[in-house]
Amino acid sequence: MLSYRHSYHAGNHADVIKHLVQICILNYLKRKEKPFCYHDTHAGAGLYSLHSEHAQKTAEYQTGIGKLWNYQGSNADIQAYVNTIRLVNDNDDLAFYPGSPKIADLLCRATDTIQATELHPSDHPILASQFQRRRHSRIEKMDAWAGLRAMLPPLSKRGLVLIDPPYELKTEYQDLIKGLQQAYQRFPQGTYAIWYPVIERQAVESFIDAIVDTQIRNQLRIEYCPQPDAEGFGMTGSGMLVINPPFTLKQDMENCLKQLSPLLSQSPLAHWQVTQLVDE
Ligand SMILES: C[S@@+](CC[C@H](N)C(=O)[O-])C[C@H]1O[C@@H](n2cnc3c(N)ncnc32)[C@H](O)[C@@H]1O
Repeated sequence: MLSYRHSYHAGNHADVIKHLVQICILNYLKRKEKPFCYHDTHAGAGLYSLHSEHAQKTAEYQTGIGKLWNYQGSNADIQAYVNTIRLVNDNDDLAFYPGSPKIADLLCRATDTIQATELHPSDHPILASQFQRRRHSRIEKMDAWAGLRAMLPPLSKRGLVLIDPPYELKTEYQDLIKGLQQAYQRFPQGTYAIWYPVIERQAVESFIDAIVDTQIRNQLRIEYCPQPDAEGFGMTGSGMLVINPPFTLKQDMENCLKQLSPLLSQSPLAHWQVTQLVDE
């Protein structure tokens, strides 16, 4: 079943948190000259028009990038995020939003490698067409978990793996834990950023506990919920669980979320956390 289309959700508050974390990690990796590999398991279409019928139907981008487009605050990481989104927009109008593989394309150097898997028969060719001219890239119409087995570890032995399933099926939570364990065995030096939605609090905590129980060291949880926890109201927030985060990420995300929370909040009960779940 592949009914999920990211074009309905591009640029929403969950994308803001996901892509902010992604950009911070990519910029950290770029501090060293040695090339790295960016691997995207569930890549989507790469670039989304916010004027499209899908984006206009939900208007979700207005809960996220729409609130930050004219950001004037002092936080350099939020500014770097907004500047990255501005790279795909010619002028001051917010018309396009780059997905995670496009963000990697914008920020990675020519010597870095980009690998991505996407199964959707419509989204894969759209994505692949954007990478035709990029030398070190591999964009496969392949199952995410098979892709991790086939393409890790990267030659460079350094990099970021973004794991961003649609969670349409309950089995995807279990699939992720198995896929993560297999990937980590092959590439333990890698940074892994796992996106998760907050829909039912107890289910979220069970999922996080299951990742902690893998015994993988150095796990950082970053979560932002613009609405209070409430079952039956859809996604009230989202988070990123980062394995082997840059040592700067915890403090950087705390600083970001202090500024972001009032800008993105939809309720006085909005809440966030940045928690080291498992030490190095
Ligand atoms: C949340 S979207 C990805 C968004 C993208 N990572 C971003 O941030 O711009 C999830 C994507 O996973 C794709 N997908 C679903 N199951 C998959 C699987 N088993 N393997 C690869 N891709 C899959 C869907 O078609 C969808 O495009």
